[in-house]
Amino acid sequence: MREQALKAFASIWLLLCFAIFNACVEESRVEEIIDETEIATEPVAPEEGAIPVVALPGLPNDVAGYEGWLKLNAEPIPPAAGGDPHRGTKNVYVNQARDAIAPNGEQVFPYPHGSIVVKEAYRPGKDYIGLIAIMRKIAGSDAEHNDWKFVEYTRNAPDAEFSIIAADGICWGCHARVEDIDYVFTELD
Ligand code: HEC
Repeated sequence: MREQALKAFASIWLLLCFAIFNACVEESRVEEIIDETEIATEPVAPEEGAIPVVALPGLPNDVAGYEGWLKLNAEPIPPAAGGDPHRGTKNVYVNQARDAIAPNGEQVFPYPHGSIVVKEAYRPGKDYIGLIAIMRKIAGSDAEHNDWKFVEYTRNAPDAEFSIIAADGICWGCHARVEDIDYVFTELD
């Protein structure tokens, strides 16, 4: 009788230990999962002064963060008198380093393949960017026009998506006027 009671007590004890052990393992696994989730969802703190690399709505990703690229013009380009082809006040940026396109302080031409030139324009009287014009130099894309691909986007509200209004043919005619400086009117200041 006594032996039986001891046996029963021992097995209850064993079961209890097993249950406690299991609960601990479960708990630490849960903690692990919480840890993993925290790692996965914790936002990455942006570097101080870094420009968030997100393209304006409707624009392709390769121009995301263009505002941080080399700006060709020192001062904003005012609307051209007597017919402004890209209506507005403009800035022109390129995804090249100053040393790469002006190795001795003087700009050299042509631009290297892979160059992207972005022009933004604030429409007259508006305080948001209403126009984005892009020239991309893609090797083998159009030898007749120095391999530049042209495209222009516009929008009519600060939170609206940009959409394409014109490309290539309409642009060449005018930009061919500055063929000697590789089709890009704005020179590095
Ligand atoms: C009637 C002439 C004309 C037409 C057409 C034209 N552009 Fe321009 N573009 C200019 C001028 C002039 C500039 C110089 C900056 C300014 O005054 O806006 C310029 C500037 C630019 C720039 C900045 C680099 C640079 O050359 O200074 C880009 C990018 C650009 N145009 C893209 C386009 C695209 C894309 C099209 C076609 C959809 C186009 N342009 C059609 C005259 C024209």
